[in-house]
Amino acid sequence: MKQWILAPGADFSRLQEREVEQPQPGHGEVAVRVRATSLNYRDLITAENPKVENRVPLSDGAGEIAAVGKGVTGWNVGDRVCVNFFRDWQGGRFRNSYHDAALGGSVDGMLSEVVVFPAYSLVRIPDHFSFEEAATLPCAGLTAWCGLQRGHFVSGDTVLLQGTGGVSIWGLQIAVASGGRAIITSSSDAKLERAKKLGASDTINYKTTPDWEKEVWKLTNKQGVDHILEVGGPDTLGKSLASVSNGGSIAQIGVLTGFDAPNVSLFPIVAKNANINGIYVGDVESFDNFVRFLNVTKIQPIIDRVFPWEQTREAYDYMKSGAHFGKVVISV
Ligand SMILES: NC(=O)c1ccc[n+]([C@@H]2O[C@H](COP(=O)([O-])OP(=O)(O)OC[C@H]3O[C@@H](n4cnc5c(N)ncnc54)[C@H](OP(=O)(O)O)[C@@H]3O)[C@@H](O)[C@H]2O)c1
Repeated sequence: MKQWILAPGADFSRLQEREVEQPQPGHGEVAVRVRATSLNYRDLITAENPKVENRVPLSDGAGEIAAVGKGVTGWNVGDRVCVNFFRDWQGGRFRNSYHDAALGGSVDGMLSEVVVFPAYSLVRIPDHFSFEEAATLPCAGLTAWCGLQRGHFVSGDTVLLQGTGGVSIWGLQIAVASGGRAIITSSSDAKLERAKKLGASDTINYKTTPDWEKEVWKLTNKQGVDHILEVGGPDTLGKSLASVSNGGSIAQIGVLTGFDAPNVSLFPIVAKNANINGIYVGDVESFDNFVRFLNVTKIQPIIDRVFPWEQTREAYDYMKSGAHFGKVVISV
């Protein structure tokens, strides 16, 4: 069978296709024939990290069960599934050991025709999703879901989304389908128009309106937003603290502006009795709840483009360009 690996190096040119023997499931394991994968910003960071080598990349994929190992109950050949980003995080509080099995990072990921994982790490995908659509769930979708859940989102709440990448568009769709009011930023007016069609009530171009937090304040009648999916990182956190409502929640998710320390006052957190929740994707139990929500709301994920297997490097290049709206998928 075929798979892509990150050979030694520090950019996408080190992606190499190779032929390997097909793995067989052991006791308690399941083999999945992967049909589609999707890219996340994290996959760009991983490809540029020389410490990660000889690793099958990508956390996100969907497929059907090809073989079931001894001792497995509840799963059958042909079942349509995803694998959880943190293989061993089934529920409860996060533990440091879960970092030892993060797909496409500390263990091999999904850019492979067949993968083998413990049965406990699988999640059944929504019936109305194609494999391409389901491949957008494990990282971007679940992160947006958990970000809003941890902030105790309820219908009628206001949500701020930053940019129109994978996490933010998933956040927009979840918020709108849950009866929330969504405000979204982007560097592109054309993308903001698309976001409006998905139900965003207000849009702000963060290039032409760099002080977008003032606009958020105005749009919310000086109340601020109840939830922020903070994907920007150090350069946007200060603006998010200015935008959040009293008692509101910031889901601290991303590093689009880098890993440096933010140069911001922490006092707004105190003054507003606000919450900052660190979100690192999610657990199997949350993923199952998310799928239940999707089966009811019938949301269709937004896929910008599907690349064929042979054009995996081109898919990475496209993701890096930031031209996409929603998700970039690679078919397998
Ligand atoms: N903690 C977690 O579990 C977790 C999970 C998933 C992702 N993440 C992180 O979250 C971030 C987003 O991931 P992703 O996969 O959704 O990325 P993505 O799809 O690559 O999103 C890229 C988009 O982000 C927007 N953007 C870039 N810089 C921005 C800025 N300064 N302010 C506002 N928007 C900006 C741009 O949108 P426009 O073109 O519309 O301007 C860009 O197209 C990344 O840092 C990623 O590492 C973390």
